[in-house]
Formats: sequence, structure tokens, C-alpha cells
Amino acid sequence: MLSIHQCVGMLRQQFPALARQHRRQRVVYLDGPAGTQVPQRVIDAISDYLSHRNANHGGLFPTSVESDAMLDEAHRAAADLLGTADADCVYFGPNMTTLTFALSRALSKTWQPGDEVVVTRLDHDANVTPWVLAAQDAGATVRYVDFHHEDCTLDMADFRAKLSDKTRLVAVGCASNSTGSVNPVKEICAAAREVGALSFLDAVHFAPHALIDVAEFGCDFLACSAYKFFGPHIGIAWGRRELLENLTPYKLRPATNELPGKWMTGTQNHECIAGVLAAIEYLADLGRDVAANQSLARRAALQVSYQAVGEYERALMTRMLSGLQANHEVKIWGITDSARYGDRLPTISITHQRLSAPEIARRLGEVGIFVWHGNYYALQITETLGLEPDGMVRIGLVHYNTEEEVDRLLQVLNSL
Ligand SMILES: Cc1ncc(COP(=O)(O)O)c(C=O)c1O
Repeated sequence: MLSIHQCVGMLRQQFPALARQHRRQRVVYLDGPAGTQVPQRVIDAISDYLSHRNANHGGLFPTSVESDAMLDEAHRAAADLLGTADADCVYFGPNMTTLTFALSRALSKTWQPGDEVVVTRLDHDANVTPWVLAAQDAGATVRYVDFHHEDCTLDMADFRAKLSDKTRLVAVGCASNSTGSVNPVKEICAAAREVGALSFLDAVHFAPHALIDVAEFGCDFLACSAYKFFGPHIGIAWGRRELLENLTPYKLRPATNELPGKWMTGTQNHECIAGVLAAIEYLADLGRDVAANQSLARRAALQVSYQAVGEYERALMTRMLSGLQANHEVKIWGITDSARYGDRLPTISITHQRLSAPEIARRLGEVGIFVWHGNYYALQITETLGLEPDGMVRIGLVHYNTEEEVDRLLQVLNSL
């Protein structure tokens, strides 16, 4: 077995964007939670699709047949990524937000006044507002679960208090795109099921860091976005077969009623779906390289890959958090107790005693260190913590980052 430590140089070479320079220094991409860079094979797959098999779905001529074969394989690859054998229950769409709006509209037709929907204050707004609007349409009530302000983890006692036999849906993120907190989704989905509610998981922030497993999570629906895990800008969703079959999405009359097409409105972004397939293969190949076994099946390879990515990212995160803790002008919003690092991802939000978040992001940007600032649409966190309008600075690590980059960020931050 190899570790990513041993392969990171080779891995980085696959990402053309990582060679970018700013003032004759390599750019440091710490903006992964807003979208990761892509390996060359993703770019090649998109270009190859447009060059050689660009066609609409369902035609009886070679380019359309080849295009459909690619789409089928992309569904199987996405099914492997999400942990399901049923590729027809995986569908694509423009992004997680649009897919969630579509599902929320279909689900709200099954709700009525008196029903309740549970969302959280720790979530990205894409997993809040679609449900709030859908609840409004149906006359249902929305219940908000709070989070612990001291470490930005979900308040599970409050979650249980908000559940009742009136709950129809629980919408929770697998991990916070702001503070990196990981939610106990298995426990959450089981609790939802106990009261007869459905569960929807937003895995957008989780997907680049940890292996999704819809069977293990016990959820009813899940969505994520490929541009957060080294692919192009496109969303992916999964639902339980009986639910996807029985619910009625807003769709056109001639469009199929079969899965997965029933949930894929209009003509899809085929070239980006080809890119998703390549991104998943990139991750699987990383696992095959680590295991030194090129014939490992895709799901097994993804398991090895995410295990290795998790260990590597944990080491980077530990280094980053220790360095940030040593800077007494910096406040870290999220888990800082190293004994609990298993409950967080390497996404770190900070504020500074003297400097505003936009000021820090601008000054880091000037020296080629790219970080995000503001609320990153996890609006209720900054509102609850009184951090609007400037918000926080988000430092996002992924597996193509290095210790040297961590040290560069820390050094510049200390010198501000
Ligand atoms: C946790 C989380 N959920 C949802 C979204 C929205 O995803 P999309 O841009 O695919 O709509 C994001 C995007 O930043 C996110 O980080």
C-alpha cells in the first residue's frame, strides 16, 4: 500500500491549474469548498465528447448510441460513488440547488397544512430555502434545528425535540461547508424514519473528503455536486426507487416516465456528464494506485481512495489548525479539540481581531493564496453568530494541497 503523501507530487501534475503562477510563485488553491480544480483527464473527457460523440439522447445512429453508452456508464460510476447498485436511481441536473428545488416541488405536493419539515441552521441555504418555499406552497410548517455556538456542531437534543409524528421530511447536510462539522447522518436518518419522516441529505461538502454510502446512511434522498469533487459544474442526486417511481416531478409530456429520465428535465449537459465519469475514475484510480492493484473494482477502489484521502487531509488539517491556534488574533469557528478531529473536515472558517474577512481574503489573494470570505451561502451560521455582513474567511484543504502550502498560508497570515 502507498500513501497519498508518496503520490501527491504525481497527483498534482495531473491538475493543470495547479501550475498557475502569481508573481512568480505557485498559486495556493484553498478555495476547494467553492469548487475544486480538475485533473487533465476530466478536461480531455469533455473535449473528447464534444469532438467525437456529441449527440442528443435516444437516437438510432452511432454518435447518439455512443453518447447513450457513455451516459449509462456515468450513471453506473455515480452509483458506485454514492454506494448503490441501482444506477437508475441516480440522476443528473445543473447543480445541487436546482435538483433540490425540483425535488422539493414534487415532495410538497404530498404535504398539507399541519405537516412539518425540519431543516437546520448549520446548512447551506440550498438545503434550507427550497424546503421553506415548498412548505409555504403546501401550508406546512418549518422547524429549524440549532447548532452549538461554541463548536458549530449540530444540536442533536434540539433536533430530537423538533421531530414529531407531524414531521414529513428532515433535510440535513452531511457536513458544513462553513465550519467543516460532520453531522451524525446515520442517527439523523434513523430518527427521521422512526417518526415516519423522509430524509434528504446534502452531501455537497462531504463528497470531496469522505465516501458517501446511501445504504449505510439510511437516507431517502441525497444530492451532491461534481464540481466540488474534481469534476465539472453539474449536480447529482439519488433517491429510493419506490419514492422516485411514485412521486411526480414537474416534467414535459413527451419525456419518459421511466427512471432515471423522469427526473432529468430537458436535454442534459452530456459533455459534463462525461467529465463526471472521468472525475470518478480519477478518484478510483487514486485508490487503485494506493492499493497497488489496478484491477480493483470501482467501488472498492473508491473505498481505498477515500480512506487515503481522509488520512492525508487529516494530517494537513492538524498542521493548519495548530498553526492557526498559535496566532492569538485568529478565532477558529468549529471543532478545535484534536480529540474530536474525526467529527470535522479540513474546511476551516476563521475571523481576525483586527482585519475583516474581505480584507484578509484580498491580501492573501494578492500574494497568490486563494481563500473564500463571507457566508458562502451558509447564511444562518453567520447570522446566528452575529458575523454578518463580513462573515468569515474559509480555508479549504483538499488532497492536492500540501504541507508547504499550509505553511505558506500560516506565514502570510501571521505577517498581516
Ligand atoms: C454544502 C453545500 N450545499 C449545497 C451547495 C450548492 O451546490 P450547487 O452549487 O451545486 O447548487 C453548496 C455550494 O457551495 C454547498 O457547499
